[in-house]
Amino acid sequence: MNKKLIIIGASGHGKVCADIALEMNQWEEICFLDDNENIKESLGLSVIGKSSGFEQFVDEYDFFVGIGSNNTRKRIIEKLKRINASITTLVHPNAIIGRDVEIQNGTVIMAGVVINCSTSIGEGCIINTGATVDHDCDINEYVHISPGVNVAGTVNIGNNCWIGIGASIINNICICNDVIIGSGGVVVSNIVERGTYIGVPVKVVKNEGYTYCSSF
Ligand SMILES: CC(C)(COP(=O)(O)OP(=O)(O)OC[C@H]1O[C@@H](n2cnc3c(N)ncnc32)[C@H](O)[C@@H]1OP(=O)(O)O)[C@@H](O)C(=O)NCCC(=O)NCCS
Repeated sequence: MNKKLIIIGASGHGKVCADIALEMNQWEEICFLDDNENIKESLGLSVIGKSSGFEQFVDEYDFFVGIGSNNTRKRIIEKLKRINASITTLVHPNAIIGRDVEIQNGTVIMAGVVINCSTSIGEGCIINTGATVDHDCDINEYVHISPGVNVAGTVNIGNNCWIGIGASIINNICICNDVIIGSGGVVVSNIVERGTYIGVPVKVVKNEGYTYCSSF
């Protein structure tokens, strides 16, 4: 672990990640990289360069990718891994994490989240404000669980999924890779084809699916 942290992405999501890093009180310096030249600072923390320039900081800084789009976050984390950068995990002090929970690098766990025992959360995930993920779940890589989502016990969520704000998933469900669950959706049976699903209970609305994840 280094004494300094760079957060890649200084807009809304990156700012919340920085706020969590400040609460964690583990780094002497926290700053951003961002491609938008109009953003010079955020939360009083400086933007010190463009995201493509991360390589020059690799010896001195830990990194976190604060970008909401699952695809973009994945692309940047993979570049960081290729140069052996130290990629950290951010866990808000007011999140409740049960025993036997594994959280992989590049994942953020936001305020008010509850993750119950024996659940695993993969690389580069976002477990957003106030979400709950119950026991024995397997949340794979680059998944975004939006604010206020409730995931019951023994649920498996595939890579690159986006679970929209306020959605619920009942217990013993498997969701395949590249699925979007719309806000407020309720998942009561397995989802085996990528696509966008909405409603109560959810039904597929778009089969091409995943491209929508980059829209925020
Ligand atoms: C499901 C979702 C991805 C669809 O986005 P989209 O493809 O841009 O869809 P549109 O907004 O064009 O809506 C298409 C139709 O679906 C309906 N719709 C969209 N989202 C819906 C939802 N969650 N539940 C029910 N109906 C929904 C719209 O009302 C619209 O209906 P209409 O054709 O009768 O007018 C999006 O609406 C959503 O729920 N995103 C989650 C946002 C979120 O969780 N943000 C948190 C970020 S931290």
